[in-house]
Amino acid sequence: MKSFIEGLPKAELHLHIEGTFEPELMFKIATRNGIELPYESVESLHKAYDFSELQDFLDIYYQGMNVLLTEQDFFDLTRAYLIKVHADNVRHVEIFFDPQGHTSRGVEFATVIHGIHRALVQAEAEFDISSKIIMCFLRHLDEEDAQRTLQAAAEFKHLIAGVGLDSSESGNPPEKFKRVFAQAREQGYHIVAHAGEEGPPEYIIQALDLLKVERIDHGNTAMQDAALIERLVDEQIPLTVCPLSNLKLCVVDNLAQHPLREMLDRGLRVTINSDDPAYFGGYMNANFIAVENALSLGKNRLARLARNGFEAAFIDDARRQELLAELDRYLEVHL
Ligand code: HPA
Ligand code: ZN
Repeated sequence: MKSFIEGLPKAELHLHIEGTFEPELMFKIATRNGIELPYESVESLHKAYDFSELQDFLDIYYQGMNVLLTEQDFFDLTRAYLIKVHADNVRHVEIFFDPQGHTSRGVEFATVIHGIHRALVQAEAEFDISSKIIMCFLRHLDEEDAQRTLQAAAEFKHLIAGVGLDSSESGNPPEKFKRVFAQAREQGYHIVAHAGEEGPPEYIIQALDLLKVERIDHGNTAMQDAALIERLVDEQIPLTVCPLSNLKLCVVDNLAQHPLREMLDRGLRVTINSDDPAYFGGYMNANFIAVENALSLGKNRLARLARNGFEAAFIDDARRQELLAELDRYLEVHL
């Protein structure tokens, strides 16, 4: 099953580029930029990755991104991620970034997006990995801050496919951002939002009704609401599920209790993603292998997960057909 997963062509649709910051690269860039990290070594930083909820992780995640200053830093970060997922046979990626996590520190929007974009262009040429960039608003900040960020993004709109919503979910409902998401929609961005990771099913409903999302990031708590499950199935709204993230942030106690298999069997359009792989203990294949080991999904469900990824991606029809055909060829031989 491991080799079946390794060879399976995949898309990653829920990935925070700042969450791919491996300790080794973090120390290297910190040294290069003359910044002192509050950890003595790679090992002591690793030891801090013991989270009991989302906020524990976010505190360390924002601290880590503080060392990113130059376009080269963002290039190196993105390049390192792409090399990892190329080895996992990931064929398409949609990368989140948190502009406010950088502009609030005096790093220009242009610096961030150009560094990320340059690495993506190189990976397209070198690895035939296609990609999109999605900027996320930090939901613990107010809506005006998100609106200023949307304005700052305008000159880079040709590089940004969509707008999302991340950071501390509890107490920050989608409703808080309905005006800025209406503006983003009018400007033609794709729309996604984190919802139902720690927040109640009501937040997923708000994301659908008020933000008019095309996909839900996470969506775990939908399983508490039968009517919502039915709606998500009827409307075939993709859910970008992140198993190892859910485990590390104690959204589930163990992977055997993860709802992924039930989600699939109920007809929800779920995909598997790594979220913040440097912090949560694994990239795409590690996520697939962990859920297969815990839930015995079998090849047909694993193939469905891969197919859902390509079907839910924000790509044009030609690229989608190309990737689905590649998946079909693989399954003809290996299923
Ligand atoms: N949830 C919310 N905000 C985030 C996450 C997440 O999993 N990763 C990075 N920012
Ligand atoms: Zn996320």
